[in-house]
Amino acid sequence: DIPDLHSVLDPYFPIGAAIDPVDVLNASDIHSALIKKHFKSLTAGNFMKPDALQPVEGNFVWTNADKLVQFAEANDMLVRGHTLLWHNQIPAWFFTDPADSGKPATREQLLARLETHIKTVVSRYKGRIQHWDVVNEVLNEDGGLRGADTGSKWKGIIGDVDGDGYDSDYIELAFKYAHEADPDAKLVINDYNLESSNAKLNGMAALVKRLLAKGLPVHSVGFQMHISNTAPSIEQMRSAMEKIAALGVKIQSTELDISIYSNSTESEKPVTDDILLEQAKRYRELFEMYKQGAQKGYLESVTIWGMADDGTWLDNFPVKGRKDAPLLFDRQLQAKPAYWGIVDPS
Ligand code: XIL
Repeated sequence: DIPDLHSVLDPYFPIGAAIDPVDVLNASDIHSALIKKHFKSLTAGNFMKPDALQPVEGNFVWTNADKLVQFAEANDMLVRGHTLLWHNQIPAWFFTDPADSGKPATREQLLARLETHIKTVVSRYKGRIQHWDVVNEVLNEDGGLRGADTGSKWKGIIGDVDGDGYDSDYIELAFKYAHEADPDAKLVINDYNLESSNAKLNGMAALVKRLLAKGLPVHSVGFQMHISNTAPSIEQMRSAMEKIAALGVKIQSTELDISIYSNSTESEKPVTDDILLEQAKRYRELFEMYKQGAQKGYLESVTIWGMADDGTWLDNFPVKGRKDAPLLFDRQLQAKPAYWGIVDPS
């Protein structure tokens, strides 16, 4: 029998996994025992996003989210809620006029919907979901706020409500609503490429500073950490996290996976021993960095975006037909060298 991942890591931080689909939690499913054995925290890979929780305005669907929260409680695990405001996986009705679906929603309509969605969801799990990804991927690669040209309608419709010259009000209000619904929940702003793009990292730093200066309860910044076997370097990732931590917030690694591909032009390749060892070295070095971050007091949690390679979202993404192998267990649910890199780093 192999060591439990979470027993190895509990002294440093809770180790989590994204769960998708919810059926992997069924006692009869081959994944469920492994999830219980190795992980201390769970995140819904998809079924707590707005399109899953409120597909039709006013019709909340709780079945899957309830099941995850109950499973976590029954097994002494934490839950990270993901996610309240995003530009993807959100139903079109949010942004359209209820009287005329050909017309956009007004600022007042969209704000009312944002408030209702966030308050309904957060208060349902008050005290039971410890961390919420309040807003997800609100930054462009250049560090500016994502707008209509990069797929988000939030900023354009809501705009600058308080007249302070910044149109980040939808973000500010999302934090305010979430905090009102559960004052004890820790609130997170989550994004990708923070560890690889300086412009985006600087944009995050500026945004977080502004939110904190306004007294908003931003507790941590989530680094998604969809990285590859080759980049970025450990030192670059460390310095990115420390730059944000210096602002007085915590850091969570929220969606870690380590792709065997360096870019989207690489075509499918066999998963050789060399690749697996390279990946194991990478997981080992990264987790040593995380442990140091925990000892320094800023790294709060690490969630891996899936458990075994049979369920990775990177199959067919970003390249259709290409299979990846980014996780700690293989398609037969056997521990990979990557797992041993974490458990036995010597
Ligand atoms: C992904 C899911 O894993 C996929 O199943 C789904 O098709 C698309 O979304 N950043 C995020 C996550 O914040 O919500 C995304 O999850 C992966 C990228």
